Amino acid sequence: MAGARVMVVGSSNTDMIVQVPRLPAPGETILGGRFSVAPGGKGANQAVGAARLGAAVTFIGRVGDDEFGRARLAELAAEGIDTSGVVVDPEVASGVALIFVEESGENAIAVAPGANCRVSVAQVEQAREACRAADVVLLQLEVPLPAVERAIALAQELGKPVILDPAPARTVPDALLAGVDYVTPNETEAETLLGGGVAGLGGVAATAEALLHQGPGCVIITLGKEGALVATTSEQFHIPGRKVEAVDTTAAGDAFAAALAVSLGEGKPLREALRFAVAASALSVTRLGAQPSLPRRAEVDRFLASG
Ligand code: RIB
Repeated sequence: MAGARVMVVGSSNTDMIVQVPRLPAPGETILGGRFSVAPGGKGANQAVGAARLGAAVTFIGRVGDDEFGRARLAELAAEGIDTSGVVVDPEVASGVALIFVEESGENAIAVAPGANCRVSVAQVEQAREACRAADVVLLQLEVPLPAVERAIALAQELGKPVILDPAPARTVPDALLAGVDYVTPNETEAETLLGGGVAGLGGVAATAEALLHQGPGCVIITLGKEGALVATTSEQFHIPGRKVEAVDTTAAGDAFAAALAVSLGEGKPLREALRFAVAASALSVTRLGAQPSLPRRAEVDRFLASG
């Protein structure tokens, strides 16, 4: 089996995590538990996730010329990721995310994007050769839209499939989804992409169908422990979730997108790639933190083999 080559354009953050008995209400102070710092950022998480699953990964992003940025960059390189497309920007701080994780595993996140806000079209253009070498291009929405749009256009020009994880939730121009082969929203993100008002549409299947009309090749709505609902122009089907003990759901979507990219990049059929993605995502939920929680290939393979 040939290893997949994945190009990721996206964000890198330092995650500051406080474990809390429950998420605080507006205006409320609650006493939490342990504090920890971990590497995160949706783009970097997906790059690390794909590398741990066996892909050769190129990451295009931006960090500040500060302690956090240098540490995050060194960690990516230590994972074997090609970071030559990461700009160290002396004019802005590295991205930081403040994360509350409650006992149920649910979280709330606020991001100060810093250098991620300056990931540029020029950086994507400079990645033309990396894109040419890639089997799959993996994108999220935590960097400026022009960079995402340019990456989609470049991938289309070079005939590379694009997976867009439309997180964090935001609206995008109508034409954007039409250039994407696979889009992987959770239910909230799907609703945002549709401009709200999905409730009356009759559930997640109708939501997937409505999104499909915006032009992506395949809509994959991630449903947490319920798995994923998939819609293409020829079929709609459900991939069941995997039962695990939830500790922290942070980066579950990143683990899913990374695993999907790796498996599709290896030439696996869609259903097999989705089972792999659901398994990787479930495993990530069993551990605290974003990048610390991302599973390696052997672990996912063992988990899949266990039933
Ligand atoms: O998807 C999880 C990530 O979202 C965290 O690592 C945090 O940095 C935010 O970007």
